[in-house]
Amino acid sequence: MIIAIDGPAAAGKGTLARRLAEHFGLEMLDTGLLYRAVGLKTVRDGADPGDAQAAVRAARSLSSTDLEDVALRSEEAAAAASKVGSIAAVRDVMLDFQRSFARTQPGAVIDGRDIGTEVCPDADVKIFVTARSEVRAHRRLKELRARGVDAIHGRVLQDMKERDARDAERDVAPLKPAEDAFVIDTGDMDADAVFAAALDFITSRNRSG
Ligand code: DC
Repeated sequence: MIIAIDGPAAAGKGTLARRLAEHFGLEMLDTGLLYRAVGLKTVRDGADPGDAQAAVRAARSLSSTDLEDVALRSEEAAAAASKVGSIAAVRDVMLDFQRSFARTQPGAVIDGRDIGTEVCPDADVKIFVTARSEVRAHRRLKELRARGVDAIHGRVLQDMKERDARDAERDVAPLKPAEDAFVIDTGDMDADAVFAAALDFITSRNRSG
């Protein structure tokens, strides 16, 4: 079974993906981490994350140790990820890895922006999680402060809006729900309720299919 989970930043994709992977005994891939690693590598190579040649070079040379860097969780890495993510040639390099991961047995939960639309259009289950940007910015702020990062709400909200706009308005693989995705607005829900709603959807689909 392949479960695709898409949605904007801090909508709750990661938590839901982890819980579903655990519940069904599936492998899990956070594709945001791949784009963050490419973005960070491009910047560390001294290039601008909007520089297609440099970003493709970084994408091609990505190794598993690049995915373990704690700096990947920073807001700088997120912004760089969003910029390299709008380059078609970078997405092409990422596609093979993501698709071969999706073939892992007995299946995988993959989260990102374009999993249900581009990476795995034939996924068994597609879920799109979303919430108002104010709610998501508040969550991200709490997360950052818990990690000891000094952040202010207005700045986090503005960065998030910019990133959402770039991810949703780009020409290649923009952020949007697949036509057959189950949409969950997580704004007024806690992680348990989101998990329960997703599980309900998957169970009813499996029963009818
Ligand atoms: O999921 P995240 O916030 O860690 O993702 C960081 C950025 O990476 C996001 O703003 C856009 C890019 N990204 C993408 O373009 N496609 C994906 N499948 C996942 C992430």
